[in-house]
Amino acid sequence: MDRETLIERALAATRKARVPYSHFPVGAALVTKSGKIYTGCNIESSSYSLTMCAERVALFKAISEGETQFNAIAITTKNRQLCPPCGACRQVLWDLAGDIDVILTIDENDSKVIKVSELLPEAFDEGFLPHEH
Ligand code: THU
Repeated sequence: MDRETLIERALAATRKARVPYSHFPVGAALVTKSGKIYTGCNIESSSYSLTMCAERVALFKAISEGETQFNAIAITTKNRQLCPPCGACRQVLWDLAGDIDVILTIDENDSKVIKVSELLPEAFDEGFLPHEH
């Protein structure tokens, strides 16, 4: 899977964003280890806090289809400014995708790759939870 294709798929997903309140469309494209791509866009609610970010839409779509192994996620915005994932998405990416590459994108020619572990150092995760029930 080449980076340009993943970025193109994220940009296409950005056009599906439902953003009547923020007017800030975000797209995401998540690629599995086997090369399958799942896309997502942000979807807003009139009850603002119920809004879902593009990254989690892509990740939840993939998980709900049975995917467990991922390589990278590309994130794009319509106005092509670099959009790092929010704190909630960093946690969920760490929990469900692990230390994958996060491709922050301005356009096809200008992107920055950063690991989830760099975005969320000293993360809380399941390793801190008690195992016996
Ligand atoms: N948003 C995302 O989709 N991903 C992020 O990582 C940052 C924020 C969305 C949520 C909301 O619809 C809009 O951007 C403004 O916060």
